[in-house]
Amino acid sequence: MDPSLSVKIGRLRLKNPVMVASGTFGYAEEFKGFMDLASLGAIVSKTITLRPRQGNPPPRTCETPSGMLNSIGLENPGLDCFVKEKLPMLGRIGVPVIVSIASEDAPAEFKALARELDGLRGVSAIELNISCPNVKHTTLVAQDARATYEVVHSVRRVTKKTLIVKLSPNVADITAIALAAERGGADAVSLINTITGMSIDVETRQPKIASGIAGLSGPAIRPVAVRMVWEVFRKIKIPLIGMGGIIDVPSALEFFIAGATAVSIGTANFINPAASAEIIRGIRNYLREKKIASISKLTGSLQCSCSKRN
Ligand SMILES: Cc1cc2nc3c(=O)[nH]c(=O)nc-3n(C[C@H](O)[C@H](O)[C@H](O)COP(=O)(O)O)c2cc1C
Repeated sequence: MDPSLSVKIGRLRLKNPVMVASGTFGYAEEFKGFMDLASLGAIVSKTITLRPRQGNPPPRTCETPSGMLNSIGLENPGLDCFVKEKLPMLGRIGVPVIVSIASEDAPAEFKALARELDGLRGVSAIELNISCPNVKHTTLVAQDARATYEVVHSVRRVTKKTLIVKLSPNVADITAIALAAERGGADAVSLINTITGMSIDVETRQPKIASGIAGLSGPAIRPVAVRMVWEVFRKIKIPLIGMGGIIDVPSALEFFIAGATAVSIGTANFINPAASAEIIRGIRNYLREKKIASISKLTGSLQCSCSKRN
């Protein structure tokens, strides 16, 4: 019998556990020449804000060893344009669309965005991006457990849609933030967003990214992401969506074994635009070979004396 790849995230049933990470897949259309978009478990759209944003000045990306730095600064067309021009196109693909949202200033913006999206049939779930390192905040919501609880709790009151909270790795204890999101009413957490980093051009002695500090992603951050997924898995009961440096089948499998229910593919899309489709096929083959009936059996199956859930 063919293994089951289906997973449940809140009220959302996915046919397979592989999605594409916010900000790394455009609005999906850009990738249709490279892969069958309908094969994806879900699409997470680029984070939107209430008003349009131009984002940060260039240069906004650069390559680093086994990864990249970016400081896009949440460039997006704003809620109204997204709903009118991007959402219908995403809906035609026929896979669940998870809409990522962020606030520019007041956390109350999360509530306003969620309230609008709650009424739209084309929105399968909402991801709260409380962890973008590339906007001018002194502290991110995701760096404070109380603020995380408050934002999640207030959004939970205005939407019945599946609510995913995206966590930041730029904290001392990510489990405290995950627990706050769970207590606030999140259906799932996704982790990790980028790790803050910096790269310098030694000729000009200027930072390679105009805004100086940027977000590091790609295989360079994978061990940190896997560690954090494993730590959070042991503390919370809601599902985890793991990401950070997944580029192939073994790297995706690491996340399931550490405790992820689903995974997201990010930077890999820039290297191989068909990566997510290849990873879906590879996971199915792995389960077949190992005679594992369902992907859910792999979640949290780490073999180690340190792996007890507490
Ligand atoms: C160019 C770029 C843009 C991104 N934009 C967003 C965004 O808008 N919202 C968000 O939640 N994460 C954003 N991310 C973070 C990714 O979704 C992902 O969490 C992170 O890159 C780690 O996964 P990866 O190593 O597979 O890329 C962005 C990442 C990159 C590289």
